[in-house]
Amino acid sequence: MCNKQLWRMWLLCLISLLSMQLLLVTAGSVRAAGIQAPSKKETCKTATCHPRMGTDKFVHGPVATGDCVFCHKPTQKHAFTKITSTEKLCAECHERPVTQKFAHAPFRQGKCFTCHDSHQSPYQYQLRATVAETCYKCHDRSKLKGRAHVSAAPGSCITCHASHQSDYPKLLVKPGITL
Ligand code: HEC
Ligand code: HEC
Ligand code: HEC
Ligand code: HEC
Ligand code: HEC
Repeated sequence: MCNKQLWRMWLLCLISLLSMQLLLVTAGSVRAAGIQAPSKKETCKTATCHPRMGTDKFVHGPVATGDCVFCHKPTQKHAFTKITSTEKLCAECHERPVTQKFAHAPFRQGKCFTCHDSHQSPYQYQLRATVAETCYKCHDRSKLKGRAHVSAAPGSCITCHASHQSDYPKLLVKPGITL
């Protein structure tokens, strides 16, 4: 065998050993997070690449199944199209027509990911923060405090308000709610 061939064999051996180890490690952490392990196809969630992906309590469906390239369309090896519109992207799987009388502005405008993380979150519904903190990103909490309606149900704005749309004024979830 010439030097070149030997070198190649070594490299192949090393790569397969490494990838076996990576596979084992990923399988372990994926199982620990209680998510379905991706099938044998190539995955982006390895110990060295994106190791945090899929480890939070609430993992987005396509992230849990390793379908990264549904959203990140590869243009070449490990180069991806920049995501310019989450409105269209999210609608590919979540059709969200406005069917009710009052639509929340950021929902109507398709700003889904102002509130939701596309990958994962420690908060339910993959929110980027607790419900109240998500709302306070745009609504002045001091103004709301004046109405004393924050203390009515600390943290849980969505017991009274719909976050996407509603048939009742002030996005209330049902008629007759008072502060
Ligand atoms: C539902 C669509 C969706 C899926 C599925 C998805 N992503 Fe993303 N990802 C986004 C969006 C939206 C952004 C932010 C916009 C941007 O930077 O292009 C983003 C940003 C990123 C970034 C750069 C910013 C950051 O958060 O560090 C990385 C890296 C990334 N994604 C990796 C992944 C990997 C790895 C997977 C699969 C395990 C994955 N994504 C699955 C939508 C998605
Ligand atoms: C490739 C398809 C796909 C795309 C694109 C996609 N999702 Fe999802 N999404 C899913 C699946 C599958 C689930 C899990 C469904 C379930 O468990 O009922 C899910 C669940 C969710 C949930 C949690 C639902 C719950 O009940 O906890 C939210 C929030 C969400 N997606 C938001 C988004 C946002 C925001 C975008 C755009 C950035 C997006 N999704 C794009 C497939 C997709
Ligand atoms: C103002 C913040 C906000 C915006 C903007 C927003 N959401 Fe939500 N979304 C929430 C909250 C809070 C919940 C939790 C339960 C609820 O209020 O319905 C939720 C729940 C969900 C769920 C799971 C429950 C369900 O209704 O199926 C999905 C899926 C979802 N959102 C997708 C989207 C998509 C897609 C968009 C963009 C078109 C979007 N959201 C825009 C705050 C938001
Ligand atoms: C991305 C910014 C943004 C976020 C985040 C956001 N809102 Fe809004 N919200 C708006 C805008 C813009 C309006 C319309 C202008 C206004 O009336 O202030 C609005 C209006 C409202 C209204 C009044 C509707 C009406 O008919 O007068 C309520 C109630 C409301 N939001 C509740 C919430 C709740 C609850 C959350 C958290 C789940 C939330 N918002 C998160 C931007 C946001
Ligand atoms: C106990 C039920 C209840 C809870 C909990 C609640 N709200 Fe409200 N909210 C209301 C009612 C009722 C109105 C309408 C008041 C009115 O018309 O004077 C309202 C009005 C609003 C408005 C519109 C204000 C305006 O000037 O028109 C916003 C924004 C809002 N709430 C945000 C929130 C946020 C953010 C939270 C969580 C931190 C929250 N609400 C929690 C019942 C509630």
